[in-house]
Amino acid sequence: MHNRKLYIVMVGLPARGKSTIANKLKENLTKYGVKTGIFNNGDLRRRLTGTESSRSDFYNPENRQGAELREKIAVTNMGRAADYLGRTGYVAILDATNVSLKRREKIAGCITDHPILFIECINGDEKILRAGIQRKVALPEFSHLTKGEAVNSFRQRIEYYQALYAPLASERNYVKLDSLNNKILAEEITDKIPYWDRIRDFLVTDTVKNLFLLRHGETHFNLENRIGGDSPLTENGVAQAQGLASHFQRKKIPVIFTSEKKRTIQTAVPIKALQKKCAIIPLKDFDEIDSGICECMTYEEIRSQMPQVSLARKKDKYNYIYPDGEGYASMKYRVDMGIKKALYLSRDSQSIIIVGHRAVNRMILSHFLYRREEDVPYIYVPQDRFYHIVATQDKKLLQLKPYTL
Ligand code: F6P
Repeated sequence: MHNRKLYIVMVGLPARGKSTIANKLKENLTKYGVKTGIFNNGDLRRRLTGTESSRSDFYNPENRQGAELREKIAVTNMGRAADYLGRTGYVAILDATNVSLKRREKIAGCITDHPILFIECINGDEKILRAGIQRKVALPEFSHLTKGEAVNSFRQRIEYYQALYAPLASERNYVKLDSLNNKILAEEITDKIPYWDRIRDFLVTDTVKNLFLLRHGETHFNLENRIGGDSPLTENGVAQAQGLASHFQRKKIPVIFTSEKKRTIQTAVPIKALQKKCAIIPLKDFDEIDSGICECMTYEEIRSQMPQVSLARKKDKYNYIYPDGEGYASMKYRVDMGIKKALYLSRDSQSIIIVGHRAVNRMILSHFLYRREEDVPYIYVPQDRFYHIVATQDKKLLQLKPYTL
């Protein structure tokens, strides 16, 4: 047995990020000099059946014809993958749902020349699933259906697979991956799996090729040193947004994530206007720290009217929680979720922008750059500069850059 060849078998319900992980894994291993091929059952099915397989009934386990065709496709791809490893390939990824035990036993029974690593993608976040389904129904296979019909058909398809779903448990080598959080939920490695260290590390890495982290432009509240609220941009703030827009005009930015506050959306709008194709996605997870009973007050007012708040915050700014509001530590979870969602939703993009707020951006920066907790609430987040962040398995970069007004 050649000890450097490997089959990877993806497992999971439709729209759980399997193909994205397969593609990224291929890109990553190829960069590392490991020749990798993907054998995708969906692609083969679409080539063979065209729009026929967009009907959910095609996936009904009771539909003999559909089941036989899907089986044939699976066997064909197994053969192709084995051929590939028999020749010049080193890693063959079988990309399909493979949710039933029967199917997986068949794979394990048929391909015995090299070890198999199963990777199960799990993701139960309804908002992310909805976004995943939107991407699926945009494929040409659904072009003859209305959007609503396509979504219903896809949801029904998921239900058919759900009925057969047997999570990984008895396989010799497997990883169960929370594909939104890049978190390994369970792993079992019995055989010697080539490239395992690299693969495992890759699976848990938050990857972003180019993240431009911007703070919204100047607001009326900023001028008065007032915190929170939902103040719009000043004239200067609008000019800053336009400066950012012309700066990023030279780059392709398909998606800008903002908070749900006016000031971040107003900063994003001119940037979008100078892009060919760009969507603004507001996420509540990126809303500024909720300062509770201190919302809309100036720091001076807080100091004089609520000295206990100022003092307690000064003593431990990271852990302090505003009465009826939040603190840095307590908003960490939601900001992290926002980052995960943004990276997941833009996973095929080369460059993305997040327009956030002072405290939120500090938390985003600390996600990529280690800082002691007590220093996080003081990270420098100016309005006339932005951070460029690159985070891949092989490269970490964080640069503060100016732009011209
Ligand atoms: O002043 C702008 C602002 O974004 C406020 O809305 C927010 O409360 C504050 O900055 C966060 O900074 P700090 O934690 O240093 O008070």
